[in-house]
Amino acid sequence: MNLLDSAPGTAVAPRPSHGEGGEVADTGDPDAARSPAELAHLVGESPAFVAVKQKLPLLARYEAPVLLTGESGTGKELCARALHYLSRRAGKPFLPVNCAAIPLELFERELFGHEKGSFTSAWTAQSGLIAEAEGGTLLLDEIETLSLPAQAKLLRFLDDSTYYPLGSPRPSRADVWILAATNVDLRLKVQERSFRADLYYRLAVMPLALPPLRERRGDVPLLVAHLSARHAHLTGGQSKRLSPRALVALGQYAWPGNLRELGNVIQQVLALSPGDLIEPEDLPIPSGTLAVPRPGTSLKQARAEAVAQFERTYLTELLRQHGDNVTQAARAARTERRTLGRLIKKHGLSKR
Ligand SMILES: Nc1ncnc2c1ncn2[C@@H]1O[C@H](COP(=O)(O)OP(=O)(O)O)[C@@H](O)[C@H]1O
Ligand SMILES: [Mg+2]
Repeated sequence: MNLLDSAPGTAVAPRPSHGEGGEVADTGDPDAARSPAELAHLVGESPAFVAVKQKLPLLARYEAPVLLTGESGTGKELCARALHYLSRRAGKPFLPVNCAAIPLELFERELFGHEKGSFTSAWTAQSGLIAEAEGGTLLLDEIETLSLPAQAKLLRFLDDSTYYPLGSPRPSRADVWILAATNVDLRLKVQERSFRADLYYRLAVMPLALPPLRERRGDVPLLVAHLSARHAHLTGGQSKRLSPRALVALGQYAWPGNLRELGNVIQQVLALSPGDLIEPEDLPIPSGTLAVPRPGTSLKQARAEAVAQFERTYLTELLRQHGDNVTQAARAARTERRTLGRLIKKHGLSKR
């Protein structure tokens, strides 16, 4: 059971046999009927998230490439799915592909397909993901992991909708809406020359930045209610609820894993906590990250806990941005490598 995955299906890499859109008939006026239902999957009323939700129908109508950015678990895939089902492509396949899950040397073949005899074991021709998504939408997740040759071919496809299946002298055409997602800063990859600048600009025609949960803390109670209702529905009713202090604690936690982490926490606590009323101490989030003072906590202790929580959030994010490269991270944080190393050790964040 997964509380969060209310939407049908998840990543189908490396080889999906078909998309999710299936044979849904086109009902004429796609915009009118579908919008509210698709957007209803997306829980959140905070300004940062409402801004995202408002853009979705517009992007879906426009169908330019969209680059979804945001930390892991912020809802990039969910929003990509919403974009597809809000668009006139809703009756055609939506294929989410995790680029990182496909070995580099196989990527082009997976994406573009191959001709019979194009490599030793190619007994038959095989169509690629682009062909399978015909008429629909392809989500290229973790796009930053694409090799430079694959980037060149994708760029070509974005330019004129044509591509060459491996071993084929003739170009093929496909009508596919390309969405890309990443949780790194692609512009840094462009600076490092591991990502083509021209492809970056081509993919990021329409950027869509998903806010991390800590920037939409106001949505936590709503999300908790949504997740609890779902849990009750799946398990056939429940009497457990979160105390106001527990809700405050959830609202103050840093959520490095964003909505995915929140989903796990709620699922665990609803399944495992002994009593009916869930208190902050019952929550499976690291103790000391609770900035809600327990009754009787001294100012000194509360402050130390808040600082520790801040340090952990800061470090986690810093290391993530710099791919765990401590030297780079120290430079960006304008501190000594040694100082940073000590903090990382203190919080047990090394070699994640
Ligand atoms: N606004 C939201 N409302 C409800 N569930 C959400 C929302 N955003 C994300 N989720 C859920 O959180 C989980 C992580 O979302 P996902 O789209 O996979 O994130 P990402 O692709 O950014 O890692 C999924 O199970 C998704 O259904
Ligand atoms: Mg994802």
